[in-house]
Amino acid sequence: MRRLEGRVAYVLGGGSDGPARPGEALPMGNGRAIALRLAEEGATVVVGDLVAERAEATVAHLATPGLAVQVDAADPDSCRAAVAAALAHGGRLDVVVGNVGVSGREPLKVQSLDDWAFADSVNVRAHWLTAQAALAPMLAQGSGAFVFVGSTAGVYSSRRSLSYEATKAAQLAVMRHVAVRYADRGIRANAVVLGNIDSALVRREFGDDPGEARGAVVPMRRQGRPEEAAGAVAFLASDDAGYVTGQSLLVDGGVSAAWPSPPALPATPTAPEATA
Ligand SMILES: NC(=O)c1ccc[n+]([C@@H]2O[C@H](COP(=O)([O-])OP(=O)(O)OC[C@H]3O[C@@H](n4cnc5c(N)ncnc54)[C@H](O)[C@@H]3O)[C@@H](O)[C@H]2O)c1
Repeated sequence: MRRLEGRVAYVLGGGSDGPARPGEALPMGNGRAIALRLAEEGATVVVGDLVAERAEATVAHLATPGLAVQVDAADPDSCRAAVAAALAHGGRLDVVVGNVGVSGREPLKVQSLDDWAFADSVNVRAHWLTAQAALAPMLAQGSGAFVFVGSTAGVYSSRRSLSYEATKAAQLAVMRHVAVRYADRGIRANAVVLGNIDSALVRREFGDDPGEARGAVVPMRRQGRPEEAAGAVAFLASDDAGYVTGQSLLVDGGVSAAWPSPPALPATPTAPEATA
């Protein structure tokens, strides 16, 4: 599908930070998969990342000519400069994907001010600053689509990191504000809310998971792939989602639809009811 022909997209956090899956040439994270998919759909894609080489590696594999930009999401001026670079490159800005995100490791008992401030700067502030910078050209065009990459941890507690859960919830509030405030001026804003995705970053933090232990608690009994997150982003960025705004699309293999969370199946189910 080439639903984004002639559009210009900016992906914040479009590199990939971790090892490749076995047999994978290019380590795949959500941001990289999103950039690749938007280009496959015909968009000119500007890839922003903290590490220039990661953005450049993504751009080298895009189906359309793109631009790599070094950006530190924790730095307000850098966020604004990257949007300006994307606009200068493409001459317009149609799609902005806020993929960047950092996960903390501190539950309430040990939650520190530093961790909280850092999570806020990347998971929330970078997103509203980027959206604010992109809004003016979008309003001038009379159109634009924001897609934020959220987490189920922003909707349900993962019991792990207070700052991650709180900032991912706030990111969805930013999305809803943009959507509602500018809906009558051609702007749409939505979020994909991801469950367990087998991204390079997750593999770096938790190791490879060939037996799919991380997928065992998911009704689909597997983790999602970054390419599946990218498919949902491409839909929300395109005119196929023309009447969709202010929404959180859960891409989680069914986790959020299940209560209580389903127990893990045995690796080799023997009883018929185990697979029913
Ligand atoms: N992987 C999962 O299971 C999962 C689940 C839920 C939500 N998410 C969300 O998906 C998004 C991406 O996660 P991922 O695991 O695919 O990572 P990823 O592989 O897409 O990597 C993120 C990229 O962001 C870049 N980055 C990090 N800090 C930055 C900064 N300060 N400024 C600019 N770029 C920076 C990294 O260099 C990396 O290239 C995050 O918002 C995360 O919260 C991931």
